[in-house]
Formats: sequence, C-alpha cells, structure tokens
Amino acid sequence: MGNKVTTAIFPVAGMGTRFLPATKSVPKEIMTLVDRPLIQYAIDEARAAGITEFIFVTSRGKGALEDYFDLAPNLEEELRRKGKDDLLKVLEETNMDSGTIAYVRQHKALGLGHAVWCARRLIGDQPFAVILPDDVIAAEKPCLQQMVEAYQETGGNMVAAMEVAPEKTSSYGILDVVSDEGNLLEVKGMVEKPKVEDTPSNLAVIGRYILAPTVLKNLDEMKKGAGGEIQLTDAIAADLDQGRKVHGYRFAGQRFDCGSKSGFLQATVSYGLARAELRDDLAAYLKSIVPSLD
Ligand code: G1P
Repeated sequence: MGNKVTTAIFPVAGMGTRFLPATKSVPKEIMTLVDRPLIQYAIDEARAAGITEFIFVTSRGKGALEDYFDLAPNLEEELRRKGKDDLLKVLEETNMDSGTIAYVRQHKALGLGHAVWCARRLIGDQPFAVILPDDVIAAEKPCLQQMVEAYQETGGNMVAAMEVAPEKTSSYGILDVVSDEGNLLEVKGMVEKPKVEDTPSNLAVIGRYILAPTVLKNLDEMKKGAGGEIQLTDAIAADLDQGRKVHGYRFAGQRFDCGSKSGFLQATVSYGLARAELRDDLAAYLKSIVPSLD
C-alpha cells in the first residue's frame, strides 16, 4: 500500500437542522460564505491536496449538490453571448471532469462512521481522505495539503487536531496523546464526545482525516458509540488498538465551525474581509458598529 492519497469522501448527508428553515429546501453544503458554497471550499481544498476522485455521501433532498457540479449549458451560453468571460471563469471552477465525482446515498442517518462506510466499495486498498465541509479552514497552505505532506512521512492514519476550550470537549472527538509537542502528535487513544470530566485532553479532532482502508473494515462491525451513532472516531481508535498508528496533525490556519450559526457568521465576516473588493466597505461598517457593541 502506497502513501499516495487521491480519493476523498465528503459526508454531506446531514439534515442541517441547525439551519432550518433554510435547509428545508437548500442543502446546508450549498449555503454560501460570500458567494461560494461551503462545498466549493471543501472541493478546492481537496484539489490543492492532489485529490482527483471525489465521493459524496448524500441523502434524500440533496439533489442541488449534484446540479451544482454539473454543467449549466443555458447559463453558460447566455454568459458567452453577453461576453461575460469573468463569470464563465468563475463557473469553470464548479465543473468536474466526467467520472471523477461519485454519489453514494446513506439511506439512514446512523452516524458519521456509517456515512463513510457507505463509500467502502469505491475505496480500494489505498488510503483515502475525509473532509467535513462544515469545518472551514482558512490557511495559507490548505489544511489537507499540509496533512498529505506530513502523511508521506508517517503513513498510518492522520486526523487534523486543534486545542478547544476545556468546556467544549464534549462536542468533539478527543485525542489522548503520547506527547504534545510540535505539529505531529502521536496518538494513543481517541474518544468521541467525552464528558468534560472524563476527557483525556482538550485536543479535538477537526474534520480532515487521512485514513487507512482497515478503518472501513472496522466500520463493518457497526458498533454504536456516543449518541447511539456509528462513530468514525471509534473505528479509527480500533485501528490503533489493532497496532496501526494514528497521528494528530496540528494544522496552521483558522478553523470556523460552519455547523453552528455563530461560526458561520464569523466565517462570513472573515472571508468577506479577505476579499479585496469587499474589504473597505465591510471594514468601515464593522468599525462603525463596534463602539455600540458591549
Ligand atoms: C464530527 C466528529 C468529531 C469531530 C467533529 C469535527 O462530529 O464525529 O469527532 O471532532 O466532527 O467537527 P460532529 O460535529 O458531526 O458532531
């Protein structure tokens, strides 16, 4: 088994109830930061890391995602007729070569581990990446690319890691590490959503993974974990117990939790300020309201 990572799984089956009523008819992955859907940020990051095969684990009501990555012949024709080359270029980024993107349905919401397991027949005997589009990471070098580079040295399994506030540990997969130095953390245990009083650390797993295919075998067991769900964290922890390595990778960059409204709003402001054409207006507005906030 080589260390080349060319396939990524995007679990996009979640109902997005935290964003109702919007998500009644719009998949949450289509919700936009400035003018790009969350899923576009995830795809761009995957491409930068050398991913060439994309697997979406979807569910009922997610058709808009498939349309988003299709050609839009009428729209493109109209833009061409009007000479709007800049917009045509923007649309090009949403086009995927035929056959590079596959859709698999998760029929029941049984957990993240189960969602990843649904893609098992499309994964051979090669390591693969998992990207959770809710976790948006602003970074000079995209997070998955940082991990793929580190992974060339380590092999095994790798998860993105970041410190969170101690009272937030019960919202994450948490790492128990051998030593906590530098970017690369050697993991000796993992636990999904531990109670604050039981947590082994405050090093949380963030939604970027590079996994060995044996993790999919572990998921075959369909063991239920935290919240009664089949957890990806547990399947990775089982791989560790079976003698394979797991590393946490402390990435450089800022992570936004776009699964929460507050995180989504923060990301909107940050990505807005990062755009040259919006920065001045937005910054002036923010400065004007700051004095009235307390
Ligand atoms: C999932 C994972 C969890 C991880 C988190 C990162 O949880 O199960 O281990 O820490 O993503 O965002 P969820 O946010 O889906 O509850």
